[in-house]
Amino acid sequence: MPAEPAHAAGRGAGRREGGPLVNVGESARQVTGCRVCGGSDWQDVVSFGPVPLANGFLPPAESYEDEPYYPLGVISCRSCRLMSVTHVVDPEVLYRSYSYVTSDSETMTRHMGRVAETCCKRGGLAAGDLVVELGSNTGQQLAEFRRAGMRVLGVDPARNLAEVASERGIPTLPEFFSAESAGTVRAEHGPARLILGRHVFAHIDDLAGVLAGARALLGPGGIFAIEVPYAVDLLEQAAFDTIYHEHLSYFLVRTLATLFERHGLCALDVERFPVHGGSILVFAGRSEDGLTPGPAVADLISLEERAGLFDDAAYRDFARHTDRVRRELPVLVRRLVAEGKRVAGYGASAKGTTILNICGLGPAEVEFCIDTTVLKQDKVLPGTHIPVHSPDHVEVRPPDYFLLLAWNYATEIFQKEAGFLASGGRFIVPFPTPTVVSAESLG
Ligand code: TYD
Ligand code: ZN
Repeated sequence: MPAEPAHAAGRGAGRREGGPLVNVGESARQVTGCRVCGGSDWQDVVSFGPVPLANGFLPPAESYEDEPYYPLGVISCRSCRLMSVTHVVDPEVLYRSYSYVTSDSETMTRHMGRVAETCCKRGGLAAGDLVVELGSNTGQQLAEFRRAGMRVLGVDPARNLAEVASERGIPTLPEFFSAESAGTVRAEHGPARLILGRHVFAHIDDLAGVLAGARALLGPGGIFAIEVPYAVDLLEQAAFDTIYHEHLSYFLVRTLATLFERHGLCALDVERFPVHGGSILVFAGRSEDGLTPGPAVADLISLEERAGLFDDAAYRDFARHTDRVRRELPVLVRRLVAEGKRVAGYGASAKGTTILNICGLGPAEVEFCIDTTVLKQDKVLPGTHIPVHSPDHVEVRPPDYFLLLAWNYATEIFQKEAGFLASGGRFIVPFPTPTVVSAESLG
């Protein structure tokens, strides 16, 4: 099944053609110019049609008539190879009240400790230095820096989460980060030694505004560090469930280096981490500080070159791989259900809501999802309206199969669910090819 041209996806405000409400025009816009290089020569990569918001959990209701759907697709800029979502949803709609809470899983807690350590080393941070985090969520990452003696400040537009963070002693400005809010922060707290944004940079449309803010807030020799999902991993695994409206950009290192250069910053270093299906932590400094880049930046750019990621063919391969998973996963799940097996989702991740919608799997196939996030429990998943329960729900009557929607935590979850596996329970893992995993196959 070839990918449809992305630009054909639903235009017009509040369109409803016998299907869901496609909400373009009022609160979304179609991407035209590239947010990195300004180019407009786009390769259409994949198009998934209208899809609801990945974190748009809803209270159970009789009818979901007004649930908004937005066109979802990805295009690739032929000049700088930024992969961008086709439509940008208004951040006020997405982030003012947000149900995504930083995971307190072992994997993530360990990772945040390592990020703090790496940043302190790379930035030469000392006690008393100011660390500002963009998209600081409930303040878990900043707590690591505070433990190391730094002054910390979070900036996060989600008012509900900024309140939680402030209550746990992490001061948080409930705002979007911009040149303006950066100016306010500098006036009140002085220059930052480190500005960190973990899994937030790919959510930002106005990159120029954020980078201008970063430059304005950084003191001499200060470091701007961002962690983003690495497009190389996305392309390799065809993990297309990481494509949703919040993720506007999918970055290669070369693309980021180009972007930084255009805004008076210089890419200094980069490290790969396995979190969120494969991420990079990229460090940049102000150009005028003359900091010396390490070899990792050039090394990853040459890996991207060798993988052919500056040419159309790689993106056509990704679209074919995506189509294959999109066809095979529902066939596998429906076969199990037809055999009388009970299937439930493990983790109501944003990725999970995306893959279920894209694959057309609903409550007929996936009875419910379990998730540890209290904010998601007793709600229903966007689009599919599959109910979300607390993990306690399966204690009495576990399903036969869990569809692993939080596959990025596979190792930790398999360990935690050793009892379920030992009693014959199985997991369906969607990527890179839909596969059934059992206690025997895990060894
Ligand atoms: P996550 O991968 O953090 O992000 P995204 O929403 O960006 O796809 O989501 C993982 C979800 O899985 C999150 O809602 C918490 C949940 N979860 C569990 O329910 N149990 C677990 O053991 C783990 C590790 C996660
Ligand atoms: Zn571009």
